Amino acid sequence: MPDIYVTPDAIPAAVVEEIKHSLERRAATPQQRAALTSYLSDVGFPDGARVLDIGCGTGPQARTLATWPGVAEVVGVDQLEPFLERARELAADIPNLSFQHADARELPFEDARFDVVVLHTLLTHVPGPEHVLAEVSRVLKQGGTVAIYDGDFSTMSVATSDADPLQACINAFVEGNVHDKWLVRRLPEVLGEAGFAPQAARSHGHLETASPALTKGWTERGALYMYQWGRIDEAMRDALVAECRRRIEIGAFYGFMNYVSLIASKS
Ligand SMILES: C[S@@+](CC[C@H](N)C(=O)[O-])C[C@H]1O[C@@H](n2cnc3c(N)ncnc32)[C@H](O)[C@@H]1O
Repeated sequence: MPDIYVTPDAIPAAVVEEIKHSLERRAATPQQRAALTSYLSDVGFPDGARVLDIGCGTGPQARTLATWPGVAEVVGVDQLEPFLERARELAADIPNLSFQHADARELPFEDARFDVVVLHTLLTHVPGPEHVLAEVSRVLKQGGTVAIYDGDFSTMSVATSDADPLQACINAFVEGNVHDKWLVRRLPEVLGEAGFAPQAARSHGHLETASPALTKGWTERGALYMYQWGRIDEAMRDALVAECRRRIEIGAFYGFMNYVSLIASKS
């Protein structure tokens, strides 16, 4: 089943609402906040930097960027207007931050408009990431920086043994929410082909045991997908959800995914 972000107009309104909350919830976790600070510290923001956040969602990274030292202006763009509406509400008191509707592969900006472009969990969702990077290169000044942060979805796991049935939920979640789960491993090469020179690369593991803020939801959504796609019946869906909750309750849950940041300059 395709990544829901590939056909944004087909995402049911209730799912859009749920994702609005889950994006904010994810960004607010201490591990994701630390990862954002960590990779933004690898970026040399020039004084008065103009920054573009592509695939900004409800804008959690754009809000951080707007107060980052040296940054004068931040523009967030996304393909989903409901996300942008929420982003504008949440950033109402941030004067140097604005949001626009745009497709990442066809940006409504003149050449060399920005010093830094941020792609925070965008690229693995877009068919043709090379088209996004071509646009990033066009709107960046010479010597400007692209900062990419994305999931290495091949590492997403809740398994605690071989053939753990809960891992089937995670595999279904990735199938329904990610276009290319291997992309970050090919990104150094893809970035080079797009004319970017590598500056920094980091790994950011996201591990959850007690109170899993993200991985519980990924597991339960995966069970729901398998039911909606007709692969399992209602009883199996409920059993998988119950097993996930049981493990959390007895302290036996383990959820993990590695995220990767790559910083590169336009050469
Ligand atoms: C996983 S969300 C990440 C949102 C935000 N950066 C965050 O991490 O909270 C991916 C975002 O990319 C957007 N997106 C996906 N494909 C896009 C495209 N072709 N053009 C613009 N935005 C796109 C989606 O609408 C969604 O808001």
